[in-house]
Formats: sequence, structure tokens, C-alpha cells
Amino acid sequence: MRYVLIGTGNISNTYVAAVKKLSGSEIVGCVSRSGHRPQSAPQLECKSHLAEISAEFDAVIITTPNGLHHQAAIEAASLSKHVLTEKPLDIHLEAMDAMIAACKQSGVTLATAYQRRTNPDNLSLKKLFSAGAFGRIYAADLSCKFWRDQAYYDSGDYRGGWAIDGGGPFMQQACHNIDTYLWFFGMPSEVTSMLGTFAHQIEVEDHGAALLKYANGMIGTIIASTAARPGLPARLEVHCEKGTFVTLDDRISYWAIDGIPTPADSAPSANGNNANSAAVTDTARHEDILRDFDTIERSMR
Ligand SMILES: NC(=O)c1ccc[n+]([C@@H]2O[C@H](COP(=O)([O-])OP(=O)(O)OC[C@H]3O[C@@H](n4cnc5c(N)ncnc54)[C@H](OP(=O)(O)O)[C@@H]3O)[C@@H](O)[C@H]2O)c1
Repeated sequence: MRYVLIGTGNISNTYVAAVKKLSGSEIVGCVSRSGHRPQSAPQLECKSHLAEISAEFDAVIITTPNGLHHQAAIEAASLSKHVLTEKPLDIHLEAMDAMIAACKQSGVTLATAYQRRTNPDNLSLKKLFSAGAFGRIYAADLSCKFWRDQAYYDSGDYRGGWAIDGGGPFMQQACHNIDTYLWFFGMPSEVTSMLGTFAHQIEVEDHGAALLKYANGMIGTIIASTAARPGLPARLEVHCEKGTFVTLDDRISYWAIDGIPTPADSAPSANGNNANSAAVTDTARHEDILRDFDTIERSMR
């Protein structure tokens, strides 16, 4: 798979490192308005528009800010290139519908990177949820109490604004954990929330709490914050007919479930912790995403 990176900031370096570890894949070019290449790939062909890239390529990896993903995806689809975009897919339903329609029309794969799903403990838990092994689920409480300093928000004009970031920690940092939550429990039937801005000069929230009600009666809570200095590991507590379990940063840390041995993976976490940094230095989960993307694309040929 030959990739072009669209966006060459922070997370583009994670992809440069991850692709290097996969045999048969390479990044052959990048797109940046300012002409900045990823720090870790200064040799890449760099153009300000995708159509100007001279190298042959099969797919794009979109690492522009959240609310711009649809533009790059639609442009790539128009060139019949497969699309892997960083999370979130985009920030408005109409934009996401438009990128899905463009990729369908061109017959290319569209995928988004929620790499925490590939954590071994999350995969084991998903199997147990799908098999109904926990019995009735009463409550699921997710706490994402992270910290970002003002310098993080000041590092990009768009950061902390509604127009392009599309929200605060619910949209930007905790959306990984919320993705896993919805993968386990499905969509709620009712949501209510309270948001506030406390520790930063930004437009969007930096702390909030949501209360969720499910059709099966389950009551959920989600706290998302970038104002909880110095930042705590993400914590999920699940209470069900069979007992209770807890995960910390997507690893099972407490298991009291009747009749089911703990499925905790003994390997050290490759997941990293986004409690106080936006950098993703361990590339293992992004490698999983790239391998999966490659497999889906091959199966469509
Ligand atoms: N999966 C994860 O764990 C993870 C972690 C961090 C970030 N992310 C996601 O990755 C994406 C990029 O985040 P990042 O932290 O890498 O951002 P970043 O460091 O600010 O980089 C953004 C890139 O987009 C380009 N860009 C194009 N149009 C832009 C515009 N109008 N305003 C600002 N930049 C623009 C910038 O280059 P030019 O200005 O030269 O065009 C820059 O290279 C976001 O969607 C974020 O949610 C995911």
C-alpha cells in the first residue's frame, strides 16, 4: 500500500513510524499548505494539493484537523484513492454523509482510526459483551479526566474552537474512549449533559458530564475533561448481573465477574496514555489499524 499523508503535524509522525514497521507499505508523499513535511520524514515529496503529487499511490491518510477531514476525503475519492482518516470521521453529520457518499460512489474504502479498539483487553471484552456473557448490564461509568495546558490549545489557531475542532474533550480527547463505550454498549436512547470552561482561554468546553439512558434500562455516565491537572488514566467501571469489572487506560484492572476468568492480557500496554499529552509515541495500535485497512482494501480488489 502506497500512502500520501494529508496533514503533516503531530499525529503524522505516528503514521510515518507505524508505516515503517509494516512490510509492503510506504508513504510516498504528503500534502501541506505551508510546505512543512512531517518532522520524521523530511525527504517526502510535499505539495499543497493532492492532485499535484507525482508519485503513484493507492490511499491517503488524513491527519488534518477534525472538521476538515471530509474535504480531503472527497478529494481523494474523486481521484479513486482509498481513505483512512484520523478520528473523528468529521464533526458534522452532513460532512460525514458527504464523505461516505463520495467514497461509495468511487468504490473506495473509507476508514477512521479509533485505535483503542485494537487493545487486546478491549477485544476480549467486546467478545464477552457480544456473547451476552455479563447478563444484564446495570451501569457503565466512564471517566476521562485528562489535562492539556494552554500551550496545547495555543499551538494551533483552530484548537479549542467550535468551527474546526468541533468541541472540547468530548470531541477531541475522550472520543476514543466514547467510541469504545458505544462499541460495547450501543447507542443510548437519551443523553443529557452539562459543560463548562474552567482552566483555558478557549471557546469550547474543557470539562463536562453526560448522563445516558439505554432502552434496556442501563444508566451510563461519561465525564470528559482537559482541566483535570495533572491528568488521570481513563477509567471504565461496569456493573452487571455477574458482578463488576474496571479498566484503566483500556486494560482490565479489576475483575469480579462470576464464572468468567479474567481475560486480562499480560502483555505490557502498547496503548499509551493520553492523560496529559497529544503525542502518540507507541505506534503498535496504529500499526493494527493500518494492517486492518490494508486487509479490507485487498478484500475489495
Ligand atoms: N488517534 C490519535 O490518537 C490522535 C492523536 C492526535 C491527533 N489525532 C487527530 O489527528 C488530526 C490532526 O491532529 P494533530 O494533532 O496532528 O494536528 P496538527 O499538529 O495541528 O496538524 C494539523 C495538520 O493539518 C494541516 N492543515 C490543513 N488545513 C489546516 C487548517 N485550516 N488549520 C490548521 N491546520 C491545517 C496543517 O498543515 P498546513 O498548515 O501546512 O497545511 C498540519 O500539518 C486531528 O483530527 C486529531 O483529532 C488523533
